Amino acid sequence: MATEPPLAILQSRVLRILLAISLLVLQTVALAQVHAVSLKEATAHDLQLAFGQNKLTSRQLTKFYLNRIRRLNPLLRGVIEVNPDALCQADRADREREAKPYGSLSALHGIPILLKDNIATKDKMNTTAGSFALLGSVVPRDAGVVARLRRAGAVLLGKASMSEWAHYRFSGNNSGWCARSGQGKNPYNLSATTCGSSSGSAISVAANMGAVSLGTETDGSILCPSSFNSLVGIKPTLGLTSRGGVVPITPRQDTVGPMCRTVADAVNVLDVIVGFDPYDAKATREASKYIPREGYKQFLKADGLKGKRLGIVKAFFDFYSGTRVTKAFESHFNTLRKQGAVLVDRLELANINEIYSYSSERVAISAEFKLALNTYLQDLVVSPVRSLADVIAFNNKHKHVEKIDEYGQDSFIAAQATNGIGKTVKSAWRNMTRLSQDGFEKLMRQNKLDALVTPENIVSTVLAIGGFPGINVPAGYDEDGVPFGICFGGLRGSEPTLIEIAYGFEQATKIRRPPTFLR
Ligand SMILES: *[C@@H]1O[C@H](CO)[C@@H](O)[C@H](O)[C@H]1NC(C)=O
Ligand SMILES: *[C@@H]1O[C@H](CO)[C@@H](O)[C@H](O)[C@H]1NC(C)=O
Ligand SMILES: *[C@@H]1O[C@H](CO)[C@@H](O)[C@H](O)[C@H]1NC(C)=O
Ligand SMILES: *[C@@H]1O[C@H](CO)[C@@H](O)[C@H](O)[C@H]1NC(C)=O
Repeated sequence: MATEPPLAILQSRVLRILLAISLLVLQTVALAQVHAVSLKEATAHDLQLAFGQNKLTSRQLTKFYLNRIRRLNPLLRGVIEVNPDALCQADRADREREAKPYGSLSALHGIPILLKDNIATKDKMNTTAGSFALLGSVVPRDAGVVARLRRAGAVLLGKASMSEWAHYRFSGNNSGWCARSGQGKNPYNLSATTCGSSSGSAISVAANMGAVSLGTETDGSILCPSSFNSLVGIKPTLGLTSRGGVVPITPRQDTVGPMCRTVADAVNVLDVIVGFDPYDAKATREASKYIPREGYKQFLKADGLKGKRLGIVKAFFDFYSGTRVTKAFESHFNTLRKQGAVLVDRLELANINEIYSYSSERVAISAEFKLALNTYLQDLVVSPVRSLADVIAFNNKHKHVEKIDEYGQDSFIAAQATNGIGKTVKSAWRNMTRLSQDGFEKLMRQNKLDALVTPENIVSTVLAIGGFPGINVPAGYDEDGVPFGICFGGLRGSEPTLIEIAYGFEQATKIRRPPTFLR
């Protein structure tokens, strides 16, 4: 405008410049917050909000995690491989978001997820269960849960390390160790165990090298590392999530589940991965009756503990008597009561000693593993090993890298000596059915319980042999700074109730804090 007096022009210019500077500052602050503050314990919900407000792109977020992995993984070894296509997937998510109305996409859209290395991806990444024996093998297709993650627009960030072969090569303690990436470290105390076998999934999410992760559990492998790394882990009802494309131990017990920093994150992941899969047809069809039509998010209720009947089995707590865990749990019981739960105390679980002798479970798994693994290996498009016998021979030939002299492969050798499903295995199956019916199921029904409350993952065998679900929630830290969890276990299909309970406890306590990487 020619008539505008020069001073006004100057003023408006100064104003505009000032405005631009302050916007820049605001943007920088916003980015710094997103990068330095918000990304620290950011939930999928926080990240979606930042995406929606144009404060963050999936590419920036993916780059942030790739940098964290580059910086921290040499110490922590929670990741075996990163996905060379992760940034492309992030770019695609960013483009898709621009084209769609806010809120219309999945809660995991554009969110980087790490997958335990026994979960198959048909892409540039390897699927090896941590072992060199499967390096270079080509899987026929994505695992069922991976196909669902891709459809939801999640960014497959990489493969998490694990106790090699999901801790079924060697019967001793090699938690967190696999030949391909070495010993994983607990980020809360580098000299403490990570537990396993989903060790890398736990380490990486605890240390913020990914937003969320998937683990697998046959007996304790999600619940235990979640407990030791201050995470929420959901071990779902058998068949709720597909095992198609997962390196197996036994289809009778294997499950795939989320390992995340919050109950809400774990529920967002669960919502995406549950459902029928033709490659695990029988179990996923049977369990799909449990899936609520509106998904699991509706059970994230802050007052979720109100009126819940929670059982306490005396023997499980006797095991911890005099430890820091006992003291913490006394306080937790008070919290649970204060939040409206009814605690049913001093319960006994029938045949608990027989269950924890593991005799039937061991006999059955040994035979089932050989059959299941051979089927998995034969189904691969390309593979250096086609049978358990091949894997054993491979390990013997590569003694040095697979640390055979140190760790051995006794579970493999015992499984190789089995001969299909005979009388003994059938007797073991009957025993486990009886133990579940007379034990956990009876206890839950007779006392009208919504869940059993236990420390750490001590209840995992009870859940494992009956295909029952459980959720671990952070519950404290011991004198060495090592986290421990509280576990809520329930009958098959009781995820909605367990989520209400777990969320109620989490919201009332908020015990999780990020790790400090101390020795
Ligand atoms: C998969 O393994 C091959 C070696 O067989 C390696 O060259 C490749 O880089 C690995 N893929 C990734 C994504 O690390
Ligand atoms: C397994 O070994 C690690 C490291 O040696 C140790 O910290 C941990 O306590 C052991 N766990 C068990 C259950 O023995
Ligand atoms: C099943 O339980 C019975 C005891 O009731 C025991 O004698 C038998 O050895 C068990 N079977 C297996 C395979 O452990
Ligand atoms: C880590 O754990 C070890 C025992 O395994 C203990 O000696 C050490 O003090 C702990 N470190 C911290 C920082 O608590």
